[in-house]
Amino acid sequence: MTEFVVLKNLQPQPELVRENIKKDPGFGKYFTDHMAHIRYTIDDGWQAHEVKPYGPLVLDPAAAVFHYAQEIFEGLKAYRHADGSVWTFRPERNAARINRSAERLALPQLSEEDFINSLKALVSLDQAWVPTPESEADESSLYLRPFMIATERFLGVRASHEVDYYVIASPAGPYFAGGIKPLSIWLSTTLKRAGAGGTGFAKCGGNYASSLVPTNEAAAKGCQQVLFTDAEENKYIDELGGMNLMLVTKDGKLLTPGLSDTILDGVTRRSLLDLAPQLGLEPVERKIEVEEWREGAASGEIVEAFACGTAAVITPISKLVSEDFTIDHGETAGEKTMELRKTLLDIQYGRAEDTNNWLVRLA
Ligand code: COI
Repeated sequence: MTEFVVLKNLQPQPELVRENIKKDPGFGKYFTDHMAHIRYTIDDGWQAHEVKPYGPLVLDPAAAVFHYAQEIFEGLKAYRHADGSVWTFRPERNAARINRSAERLALPQLSEEDFINSLKALVSLDQAWVPTPESEADESSLYLRPFMIATERFLGVRASHEVDYYVIASPAGPYFAGGIKPLSIWLSTTLKRAGAGGTGFAKCGGNYASSLVPTNEAAAKGCQQVLFTDAEENKYIDELGGMNLMLVTKDGKLLTPGLSDTILDGVTRRSLLDLAPQLGLEPVERKIEVEEWREGAASGEIVEAFACGTAAVITPISKLVSEDFTIDHGETAGEKTMELRKTLLDIQYGRAEDTNNWLVRLA
């Protein structure tokens, strides 16, 4: 196993500042004292594994990432259990996904061992930053953001010969400011996030960049998220701006779009599909037309909708708003939505037995 060399931050945040941040961290605003780093060159492969003080990167203005967006990332969380230990959830799935993203973006493969050890090295050093949940309703955690960027100084359009991988960590509360208050979603029918053969399934910055204008459009309509439809026929449910979408039917199906070139293989998505049978739900992955959702909601066949992702956990959806119609599930979170949410969070926070061995100890 390659050891991470530790270069300690000699000016960490004072304890009082850190404890205050953990009380109300919001999402993605504050960062811990260190970051993990591994450097890749085409000649030497991955090398120089280190954890060093968190701080700005010095990059050449001609670094490929700035020009051709050769960049990928991951998102996972570290959860503090009641006995003080710190765990993460199914990190081998993130390790596999970063390599699928890397393959699509012509970035180098990173071993599962390096990926998981980078999390362990960082979190064991910065474990004081992992919030302790005060109640079952408190979903605070330490959000982990591994990312890989092309850093060769070269303006020709080809895969970079130099790459840097980092992990940064950020104490996190709910992703949406309203917590689990049901969301309004805007249906974007003109602007697309991804198409067949593109990068939609990869976790690359470009997918998120292309969701920003539609997200602004959504905000202008009073909505907190955007839903994309497919680029070919403009009728199938694709993804939300930064998370997957699920529907619950009256007859007990948990419906979500099947994996394709444009759908991110979300770890929360997969885990909910895996957990569905124990809550009496049948998981169904297939193409779903927006029209099916609209008719199903009107007839009472589709009874709940929610967004899911590592950052979003499970956030209920109250409305889908479009130029022509509104689907309204009401302002009360759905019963199955909340059951799924509790089942997942209880495993992640160590309140329920981890019968699937999904948890990996970080500290
Ligand atoms: C995550 O859920 O971890 C993501 O990367 C999505 C992003 C919208 C924060």
